[in-house]
Amino acid sequence: MENRIVGKHALTKKMVSNILKTSQEAKAAKRLDPNVIDATVGMLNLETGNVCKYKTVADTLAQLTDAETYHYAPANGTAEFRNGIVDWVFGPHKEAILKTFHVNVIPTTGGSGAISNAMYNFNDFGQKILIPNNYWTPYENIAYEANLGVETFLMYDEQYNFNRKDFREKALALSEEQQRLFLVLNDPCNNPTGLCLTKADWVEVINVLNEIARKNYPVTILHDLAYLDYDMSGWENSRDIFETYLQMDERILAVIAFSGSKTFSLYGFRVGAQVGLSKSQEVIDDFIRVGDYSVRARFSSVNRPAMSAIGKIFTNEDKKQAFKAELMQARAILKKRVEFFKACAEKENLITMPYGGGFFIGIPTGNLNIYEDLVKDGVFVITMKGMIRIAISSVPLSEIERLVKIIKKHV
Ligand SMILES: Cc1ncc(COP(=O)(O)O)c(C=O)c1O
Repeated sequence: MENRIVGKHALTKKMVSNILKTSQEAKAAKRLDPNVIDATVGMLNLETGNVCKYKTVADTLAQLTDAETYHYAPANGTAEFRNGIVDWVFGPHKEAILKTFHVNVIPTTGGSGAISNAMYNFNDFGQKILIPNNYWTPYENIAYEANLGVETFLMYDEQYNFNRKDFREKALALSEEQQRLFLVLNDPCNNPTGLCLTKADWVEVINVLNEIARKNYPVTILHDLAYLDYDMSGWENSRDIFETYLQMDERILAVIAFSGSKTFSLYGFRVGAQVGLSKSQEVIDDFIRVGDYSVRARFSSVNRPAMSAIGKIFTNEDKKQAFKAELMQARAILKKRVEFFKACAEKENLITMPYGGGFFIGIPTGNLNIYEDLVKDGVFVITMKGMIRIAISSVPLSEIERLVKIIKKHV
């Protein structure tokens, strides 16, 4: 008789090349040798190596009452949190969005909680989700955990523009095969590449989704905008994406995954939200029904102090403006590092993928051993198929020139 402790579905489960694990290894190596360069961490760090903590957030957290800190958070969020997320995410396009769509906000354990709830609820088991071929690897783990597979399209054409052609072909083929489609796009400021889609790219994405929805196939787009607030085009321009949303077919469900980790530097607090949008009341009713259920069934509710603090920042105009000013400084830190990195890369003739914002710079490579080669030279990065990811968010200016030289040697 077979004697196995894990369920059949979990027999082959094994975390390979986990980003957090590699990051721990890099930290341990740096403790032993301060010359080690750790370019793995998806957190924004200051030049000192300390996390970029926002004063507005820290002060607001420090002033919370016991009830705002220790009580359970309402599973569907406080009104300040829910309405504040809508204001913040859509910015100048909020009125147009609310006029056109039914919208609902469900608090989640970080953007990850939003992604995992959405993948679980809006696919059939055995279905494949569609993602670009350069992707944040946890998408794959989250998909497998939800009994799903992964299909990819080419993210870039030869000029490193978003590959609209391959997206169209793969989306049409996969939706035909499954008679439904679940697309994941991480934009703006893609992790791992730094790509920001243009408005014309978004128009084409929505055109293709509309074509599929008009065949009466259910279509969900999971729009992961974890790095929205680090888009170099600035707070208002980064929200222009939402103008293209207005043309969405009424059968489509858009689920936005918002990350409190990135926007507020509240990485350890585990707070985020899934924002559902659809022109169909029926679709949004389904979004609320299954979303609320999954929150209760998976993690019950989210971090109360983080929800309270975010709600306060969103509803107090002074706090909100102060926080926006701090975010601008954070973007300036990133900008300075990226510009220096690019200048060094140019000097070394090192090709980098186009960067529009966010925490990462992508570098193409054909070296299958690049991880080991770089580690031998004291550099830790995240490696992915055909590229390496440099978390410029955590590399101080003083290490960039050396980092570029070592990468050039092995790439
Ligand atoms: C692309 C992307 N999406 C979502 C997340 C989710 O982050 P969190 O769950 O901490 O909000 C991350 C975090 O690294 C990310 O890089």
